[in-house]
Amino acid sequence: MEKQEIRTFGRRHGKKLSARQNGLIEHVLPTIFPENLPANTGKILEIGFGSGEHLRDIARQNPAKIIIGAEPFMNGVASLLSAITNESDSIRDEYKNIRVFPDDVRDFLRTTDSKFDQIWILHPDPWPKARHEKRRLLQTEFLTSLSPHLSDSGEIIIGTDHWEYFEWILINAKNAGFHVSTPDFETIKTRYQQKNKAGTTSPKYLVLTRP
Ligand SMILES: C[S@@+](CC[C@H](N)C(=O)[O-])C[C@H]1O[C@@H](n2cnc3c(N)ncnc32)[C@H](O)[C@@H]1O
Repeated sequence: MEKQEIRTFGRRHGKKLSARQNGLIEHVLPTIFPENLPANTGKILEIGFGSGEHLRDIARQNPAKIIIGAEPFMNGVASLLSAITNESDSIRDEYKNIRVFPDDVRDFLRTTDSKFDQIWILHPDPWPKARHEKRRLLQTEFLTSLSPHLSDSGEIIIGTDHWEYFEWILINAKNAGFHVSTPDFETIKTRYQQKNKAGTTSPKYLVLTRP
């Protein structure tokens, strides 16, 4: 029997969506599904983009690349769609390079042999209770599975304000065979970062590259 994957995210649905958001999910989301991705165009993946503040930021900074976001929380997907469309529900010019997989990134990665110049994972759910540790996304096995999806000089950038999770990820990344650096870093403040549930002074970042 096939091994069932452990669910790494919490809710898929939060508060009721507005009529406009439901319309965007029905009509716009299918048009930006990440399929038939061209091999010769640079690509960046963001895993668990939340409401998409950072995804939009990298889309604006990298107009020549395709920016793919994976997020199973539909309210987050709806927030992103609201922010990247204009009043007539067309995608704004600066966001035309965004593609969205509205589900578990592991399902997306199984369907593609695309390689990414960067894979961003900002504030992965820390699942702080010991009995929930198995729900953490950044297990050694998952990090290992990202390696073939990195372009030659590709990097995985991870940020978390949960310093215990940071140390745990560091060990897993080394076990997965990555070279790991922990630079000082700044990104735009995501919604989760602003909540700072861990109560730490700042997020810490890891950059993983293939040796
Ligand atoms: C703590 S939130 C952080 C969201 C956002 N990056 C931010 O900083 O505001 C973690 C996000 O990761 C998403 N997530 C968890 N497991 C995932 C998976 N397997 N694939 C894609 N996204 C996932 C969750 O749905 C959630 O929105």
